[in-house]
Amino acid sequence: MRRYFVTTFGCQMNAHDSERIKGMLEELGLGEAQSPDDADVVVFNTCTIREKPDTKLAAHLGEAGARKRERPDTVVAVGGCYAEAQRERIFSLYPQVDVAFGPGTIGHLAEWLGAGGEGVARGAWGTGEERTFAATLPAHRERRFQAWVQISMGCNSVCSYCIVPAVRGREVSRRPGEIIAEIASLADSGVREVTLLGQNVNSYGRDLGTDFARLLREVDAIDGIERIRFTSPHPKDFRRPVIEAMAECAAVCEHAHLPLQSGSTRVLKEMRRTYSRDRYLRLVDEMRAAIPDLALTTDLIVGFPGETEDDFRETLSAVEEAGFDGAFTFVYSPRAGTEAAARTDQIPDDVKRDRIERLVEVVQRVAAERNASRVGAVEEVLVEGASRTDPLLLSGRTRRNTTVNFAGDAHVGDLVAVRIERATSTSLAGAQAVVYAV
Ligand code: SAH
Ligand code: SF4
Ligand code: F3S
Repeated sequence: MRRYFVTTFGCQMNAHDSERIKGMLEELGLGEAQSPDDADVVVFNTCTIREKPDTKLAAHLGEAGARKRERPDTVVAVGGCYAEAQRERIFSLYPQVDVAFGPGTIGHLAEWLGAGGEGVARGAWGTGEERTFAATLPAHRERRFQAWVQISMGCNSVCSYCIVPAVRGREVSRRPGEIIAEIASLADSGVREVTLLGQNVNSYGRDLGTDFARLLREVDAIDGIERIRFTSPHPKDFRRPVIEAMAECAAVCEHAHLPLQSGSTRVLKEMRRTYSRDRYLRLVDEMRAAIPDLALTTDLIVGFPGETEDDFRETLSAVEEAGFDGAFTFVYSPRAGTEAAARTDQIPDDVKRDRIERLVEVVQRVAAERNASRVGAVEEVLVEGASRTDPLLLSGRTRRNTTVNFAGDAHVGDLVAVRIERATSTSLAGAQAVVYAV
């Protein structure tokens, strides 16, 4: 049997696309290899949000090139955002690449690879083509009880640092009927938690005469779906109806990942985020008032062009004021073709490094305090498997999306009650109390 190996970079959108890529390769009769060394078809589903994933990909493609010299019939396919960004150059940059395709065109993978991955025409090309939702393709899901569901593709924002609109295109919403049908069938097959995916879930449906709040309520009404998550909402579009839907729908989890990016209104303006620090913090207050126990996480960038020490300190103080439960922190990385990359006031690397270290310290301290406040509470945990740190323990996540390692005897996919005994900045630990009656 011919075998494939898929390496995934980037966001949940890509992780979800990789499930479809794997599903399609399996339909072609390929089996999953244990490592790229054993694979006849190696696929890289790429990200180009910052320079780092580009560099990592270069190393991986170097290894793939070496394997291909030993076994010339190995097929190397590169999909995702980097492939789309480099569509003019990818075959000259990386002669070992046989097939390249962009996000949103994975439905054609079978044609490009030929049946069973044989007879590939080198240079088969799938970037820049009309995009379609991958949702109707076969999928190889990693977890039986949890699923990602794509609700839109592309992004209509113009954040001045971001490459995503250039590689993922304009925003298109998926028809609500299709989304609901997919989730209903996932629920029938045992899925209890869904994560709705889009670059800006809060602008969902504008092109179809519906909206995100309505979608949340419709998903909430599906039998068997006990947890609904979504990522990412854009603060500019987080309106009252969505807050109300979050507060009123039993299945919608008490967690929002709400990317702030910077705590300085001046920098936010230059980032073209279209909200101010004050407006963001007011939104946080409004959400916390409506949704008791809400967990808030965020994305933050340091070293945006022109960012002063004072701007940066505003980011630090915004972390304290908002009281984030966690944050992904990034050093600004100039992306070719974006507005911010063309600026001449780029911040030196050593200043960026200093700022990211100071930011991580504050983020960790605030998150540790937030988690410590859960000690003594009983949390509902969806069991995901054995703990990564201690195989004798189980691991799962709370509705607030915090990882909990705990002693217990539950099965994967169970919802259990766990008494929280200890906390770090990134996780909780405890012991199983009673099993929820569900
Ligand atoms: N659509 C999502 C974000 C997708 S990218 C949203 O707007 O919420 C994920 C995160 O990567 C962004 O929130 C931002 O914090 C970060 N990011 C994007 N472009 C970046 C760049 N050029 N340099 C550093 N971080 C960046
Ligand atoms: Fe990028 Fe901004 Fe769109 Fe998010 S909202 S994908 S940061 S352009
Ligand atoms: Fe990366 Fe593309 Fe996601 S650039 S972060 S994989 S949308």
